[in-house]
Amino acid sequence: MKISSEFSKYALEYNTYNIIQNKVVKKLLSKLTYKPKRILDLGCGSGALCKAIDWEYDSFLGIDFAQGMLDLHPKSKNIKCIYGDFNDANLFENLARCEYEHIFSASSLQWAQDLENVFKNIKALQRPVSLAIFTSGTFKTLNKTANLEPLLRSCDTIRTLSDKYFQAEFEVLKYKLEFESIRDMFRYIKKSGVSGSRNILTYKQTKKLMKEYPLDYLEFEIVLINSH
Ligand SMILES: C[S@@+](CC[C@H](N)C(=O)[O-])C[C@H]1O[C@@H](n2cnc3c(N)ncnc32)[C@H](O)[C@@H]1O
Repeated sequence: MKISSEFSKYALEYNTYNIIQNKVVKKLLSKLTYKPKRILDLGCGSGALCKAIDWEYDSFLGIDFAQGMLDLHPKSKNIKCIYGDFNDANLFENLARCEYEHIFSASSLQWAQDLENVFKNIKALQRPVSLAIFTSGTFKTLNKTANLEPLLRSCDTIRTLSDKYFQAEFEVLKYKLEFESIRDMFRYIKKSGVSGSRNILTYKQTKKLMKEYPLDYLEFEIVLINSH
């Protein structure tokens, strides 16, 4: 298992809330050994993957269950976006009838209700995959400082499932995102969507956490699953 680490500094500018997701997309694309012409993207969001693809392709099919995201996704005669929920078996029945040669999913499957079931459904589509999934190593120190159970699955749990369903390369990415101030850091957590909208701390608890958090950066851990 390969582990890569990277350190970045966060700039509080418009559109930097997706800084980690954009890095993940780049990394995912860098792992490809060919340039698929017909692409499926599960949890496509507002189009980070689509925008990062720099080769000509015949079709791009983006799936997301947030209409607001689909509305923001680029569209063209070869880019189609449709509503779909990867927790729903019906989506995979429909996808079995669609045309694509490679399945991507970037920074989305950590929200799967039952990841094993989603992996089983993806495997049944019988296409190479490029999946990036956030793990419980994300916000590790923050969760520890606040005495919170991690929201996400561990790297080991995902690895076991990956080995069961895919013959794939498994890589762990660790990112550190540095902030000028603790206030910027908490604003990032709120706005970036990486916390899964978990608002379980009271105002007082948040203040305490801001005071006690020992780092000037946030930790992220993402696993990449690549099959060819
Ligand atoms: C952090 S965003 C990542 C978006 C994009 N793939 C990227 O790399 O920037 C996670 C996306 O997953 C979508 N999502 C979460 N659960 C989903 C589900 N059950 N079915 C479909 N999309 C889902 C969300 O709506 C959101 O757009």
